[in-house]
Amino acid sequence: ADSVWTGASIGVDGHPDFMSKEIAEQPDVAARIVDRLAPHVLDGSLWADLALPRFDRVTVIGCGTSLNAGRMIGGALSSLGRVPVRTLVASEAADAVMEPRTLVLALSQSGETADLLNAIERLDLSRSSLVAITNNEHSTLARQADSVLTCDAGPEIGVAATKTFVAQVITGVAAALSALVASERMLRSDAVRHSDELRLMPELLAHAIAVSHEVLPSIVAGVLDEPGFLFLGQGTGVVLAAEGALKLKELSYRWAEHQPAGELKHGPLALVDRGTPVLVIDSGDPRIDRSIAEVDARGGRIVRIGGPGSTVPVVGLGRPAGPMAGARRWGPLEAVVPLQIFARDLALALGRDVDKPRNLAKSVTVE
Ligand code: G6P
Repeated sequence: ADSVWTGASIGVDGHPDFMSKEIAEQPDVAARIVDRLAPHVLDGSLWADLALPRFDRVTVIGCGTSLNAGRMIGGALSSLGRVPVRTLVASEAADAVMEPRTLVLALSQSGETADLLNAIERLDLSRSSLVAITNNEHSTLARQADSVLTCDAGPEIGVAATKTFVAQVITGVAAALSALVASERMLRSDAVRHSDELRLMPELLAHAIAVSHEVLPSIVAGVLDEPGFLFLGQGTGVVLAAEGALKLKELSYRWAEHQPAGELKHGPLALVDRGTPVLVIDSGDPRIDRSIAEVDARGGRIVRIGGPGSTVPVVGLGRPAGPMAGARRWGPLEAVVPLQIFARDLALALGRDVDKPRNLAKSVTVE
């Protein structure tokens, strides 16, 4: 259960539902976190203040959307800092072997998810340090961790996580950059570029919200009868594809699958028929064009998020040669916005309750 916030005292503030409100809040949430953390990234102090021993490797653990947030942060640590990263689905973690000097990043919006708490109890963490990334600093998870990074997203009432995902990723990436600087795994000049990207996040998210509301309604109207949806990406774009497919399943009750774009030809391409909606997150790797061409040749309906000729031009404010060129190795986080809005718009058009999807709970305290 959410121990600190209850829906009773919180309103939708003129929005039709909490999910709408929470999507709209994302630029402000991002700005709040960035203002608080960015000044402590480049000197490593954000990390140093956690007072943890040095680590050689990272294990990310969580459930659902929090697991996806952890994967984004893990992607930043391995691509930017060459840190070996492993991801554990909490409900499957019991037999994982923990090597010494492992930093365990445990992510949970509520900090009360039973699968995660039980995994932490069962794993041998005696030679590891446990850092919680949570939106509830008073949670069981926070109490059990060696250090806590609070996300500061404010109460999230919609069952499907939105702003807490963005908050976890930004908080975690800021901490990761700080850790890489502190352990001399990253050049300061590179860290400057990446922290500049963090500072751009509020603007990028606001732009993504505006563009999504403009272009998605007509796209959604064209796919209402489609039984299944495919999400493709590369690198951390695969994680965003996973999050987009999860949102769509949770809210619309339609089947959705995510794949690394390169895997399309090894099987999932058989699913693509005339009109099959395929959402592609373009994080800047030109190989994605081949997957898009394969879908196109079968008559699939491509919704391209970012990149040349994109249907939803949200990524990087359309500035490929700008200050972010070459720097975008952990995002594009703003691409989650059209995925959230796509899932919500589709669900509403199908008459679903977007704040309380069937069969699901905000915080699952049973295994
Ligand atoms: C439930 C929610 C999901 C959430 C997951 C993990 O299944 O319906 O939206 O991602 O729990 O929750 P946590 O509080 O640990 O982030």
